[in-house]
Amino acid sequence: MNIACNYHERTKHYYNRYAKSLGYLDWAHKPHPYRSYEDAPRLFLPLDGEFSLRYNELFANKEPNVMDVRSIGSFFRYALGLAAVKKFGSESWELRVNASSGNLHPSEAYCIVPGSIVSKEDATLFHYHSYLHALEELYAYEALSLPGESFVVVLSSIIYKEMWKYGERCYRYCALDFGHAYRALEVAANLHGWHLQALDLSEQECGHLVGLDQKERFEQAELEGADIAVLVSRHMPKNVKSDILRNVKVETFQAFANRLCSYYQKYEIVEQMDASTKASVVSVTQMQQSQKSSEAKATDVILRRRSAQAFDMENSKMALDELMELLNGVQMENPQIDFILYIHNVSGLLPGVYLYKRSSMTLRLKEEFLYDEVASGLFVLALGDVRVLAKNFSCMQDIAADSAFALSMIAGCEDALSEPVRYKERLFEAGRIGQQLYLDATSLGYSATGIGCFYDDAIHNFLGLELPSRQVVYNFTVGKALRDARLQTLPPYGHLKR
Ligand SMILES: Cc1cc2nc3c(=O)[nH]c(=O)nc-3n(C[C@H](O)[C@H](O)[C@H](O)COP(=O)(O)O)c2cc1C
Repeated sequence: MNIACNYHERTKHYYNRYAKSLGYLDWAHKPHPYRSYEDAPRLFLPLDGEFSLRYNELFANKEPNVMDVRSIGSFFRYALGLAAVKKFGSESWELRVNASSGNLHPSEAYCIVPGSIVSKEDATLFHYHSYLHALEELYAYEALSLPGESFVVVLSSIIYKEMWKYGERCYRYCALDFGHAYRALEVAANLHGWHLQALDLSEQECGHLVGLDQKERFEQAELEGADIAVLVSRHMPKNVKSDILRNVKVETFQAFANRLCSYYQKYEIVEQMDASTKASVVSVTQMQQSQKSSEAKATDVILRRRSAQAFDMENSKMALDELMELLNGVQMENPQIDFILYIHNVSGLLPGVYLYKRSSMTLRLKEEFLYDEVASGLFVLALGDVRVLAKNFSCMQDIAADSAFALSMIAGCEDALSEPVRYKERLFEAGRIGQQLYLDATSLGYSATGIGCFYDDAIHNFLGLELPSRQVVYNFTVGKALRDARLQTLPPYGHLKR
């Protein structure tokens, strides 16, 4: 069996058995939340960028902003920066713009910025430090010239951050988080009217490009793997030539990555899975523009995006138009994921299980389902109260029952059976959808929560899905959040004096 198939099979959760992990949270060895390069000079970014743009204008074409240190700073702030600080008694922790499983944030960003923008002679490599909102200067490339007004961003993952909590299933969480982080970059590029395009480079080539292959600079269990490189351009590039970056390699440099943990649990299957995609290119298709109705300030929506801990069941009622806006908001070219919806409280729809068709793949489900189309692309499969069903499928989490609706993302995995990178791409697509759903839900006054914990085969059996070519890769839920009055929410970056 292919490694991806084997990995997915082995990391399924069952009612009576969870995927292999420690089985408890080893708080004493929780990874430090921030990657940093202590020896590197830091370029502190301004925090004052103001945007009057409304959410319903965010995804439309617009006049691009100038590319300078200030605008690159706000690009990172509204993509991967801090969104808020939560306080409970004497404890406090930061939340970020991009959602991340367990708030563990395995995704890191590096950028290569033309010397002219940062007052240097050469194009320069930086690491983005979200807590300090600073660029850590790592390396100067000789004779590297980037096309037009543009810079490169490489996203990477520190898998161990998730391994600490999720054990063998952590690879899935990292790939979902990668999708969230990528969509957050796309949205921040939209804020500036910039274009973001994935480069045709393998993970290994992306790693060479920013020096992540210099293993001696990292704690061995905390190695970072590059996921993708993107070109962010002020004007739509005519043709993006990845070749100019393909053989660029960082010579050895001295900045060492900080140590995040003092003790490690190892899971070999995760390392095998991670290694299996290194020579491959993660390919990305375009997300389509769609009509948004919210006139809220775009940056407010971005910073207010939050995972609900609990939903207010009585008030989690949604209009059908709003549901359709959410579903239409995540259309993309060549989608590989369809949705199964557990509708609890959407006016105009009877409670039940529905199918929302996004992809052109054949999805064979149980014959006894109804398959009546009730709105464009939305088919009712079975009617009835499905709150308990949704909760049971989502590892007994109440949020899946108390919401307006929950959903399961069903991915076509035929090609993943022969090429592991396709499996990673399905998780990536699910994460990208998740980040956009969070934002759209927030813009309409709702909250959302991504659900990585679900009983895989319980859902497959209920639907009668064909295994292994169709698999659930992510659950999600949307409703009206219940606020926890014991928690205080403070603005981010209060710790910075600038
Ligand atoms: C891939 C993924 C899986 C998640 N799974 C769960 C889950 O099973 N249950 C849950 O309550 N929250 C889940 N979350 C929500 C995270 O815990 C939340 O994003 C994190 O605590 C950060 O909070 P924020 O989203 O408000 O920034 C998940 C988030 C992501 C991105």
